[in-house]
Amino acid sequence: MQTKNTNQKQIKNKKIISKAEIKKMLEGSLADFSNTDIEELYKLNSKKLIKKRAKGVPLQYLLKEWEFYSLPFKVGKGVLIPRPETELLVDIALDNLKENDKVLDICSGSGAIAIAIAKNKEAKGKNIKVTAIEKSRKAFFYLKENIKLNHALVTPIKANAFNLKKALKKSEPKKFNLITSNPPYIAKEEYGGLQREVKFEPKIALISKNDPLKFYKKITLQSEDVLEKNGKIIFEVGFSQAKAVEQILQKHNFKTQIFKDYSSNDRVVLGIKQ
Ligand SMILES: C[S@@+](CC[C@H](N)C(=O)[O-])C[C@H]1O[C@@H](n2cnc3c(N)ncnc32)[C@H](O)[C@@H]1O
Repeated sequence: MQTKNTNQKQIKNKKIISKAEIKKMLEGSLADFSNTDIEELYKLNSKKLIKKRAKGVPLQYLLKEWEFYSLPFKVGKGVLIPRPETELLVDIALDNLKENDKVLDICSGSGAIAIAIAKNKEAKGKNIKVTAIEKSRKAFFYLKENIKLNHALVTPIKANAFNLKKALKKSEPKKFNLITSNPPYIAKEEYGGLQREVKFEPKIALISKNDPLKFYKKITLQSEDVLEKNGKIIFEVGFSQAKAVEQILQKHNFKTQIFKDYSSNDRVVLGIKQ
C-alpha cells in the first residue's frame, strides 16, 4: 500500500517541469522541435532528457521506442529511426505478395520493412518467409531486438548487401519472389545540409559513398542470382532519384513504376522482372 508521503512525492516528481518550461528550454536551442516533442518530454519530465533534446538529440532516441506501421520498434544510437514515408514501400510490398512468397529485405536497419511485412501477412493468415540483411553491428542488434519484440517470423542475417550470395550461403531460402530495400542514398556532399537531428543518426545508414545510386545498381545486378523468375524489386528512393533508378532496373529487363509519397514526392520504384 502507498503511504500519503510516497504519493505526494510521486506527484511532485511527476510534474516538476511544466510544458511552458519545456518550451522555454527548447526555444532558442539547437533542436528543431514540435508539439509532439513538448507533449512527450512532458510525460518523461526529466531535465536531463530535455537538455539532450535541446542539443538536437532526436526525440525518438530519448523515448527509446517508436512506432512504424502501427508496430513498436526499439531505436537508439546506431540505428536509423523508421520514417513514416517508408510505410508506402510496405503498402506496395503487401499488395504485391502472394501466398508462400519469399521476401528479402536488404539494408534492414531496425527491421521496420521486414517486420511490418511479416506481421501484416501473418495477421491475414498468409505464409510469407522474410529474410533481413543488415551490415552494421549496432543496427543488427536493434533488428534482432525488434524481431523479438514483435514476435515476427523474420530471419536476420548480419552481412554485406554487396555480396548477397555469400550472405545467403548458410541460410534458406536462397531465392526470393520479392526484394525490398531502403538503402543509404544520400550523396556525401549533401550530408552537411541535413537537419541537425539527422546528424545524430548513423552515417552508414544515410550516405552512399562515391555514388548515391551504388546500392540500387549493386542490388539490381545481384538480383540475377537471388530473384525467382518474374520476381519483383521495390526500392525506396531519394526524391530526385526515381528516374535514374527506373533506368537501372530497365537495363536489367525490369518493367517499372514510380509511386509518389503523401507529400507528392517520387518515393518508391517498383520493378517487375520480364
Ligand atoms: C536508410 S537505412 C534503412 C533502414 C530501414 N530499412 C528503414 O527503412 O528504416 C539503410 C540501412 O542500410 C545499412 N547498410 C549500409 N551499408 C550496408 C551494406 N553494405 N550492407 C548491408 N547493410 C548496409 C545501414 O546500416 C542502415 O541500417
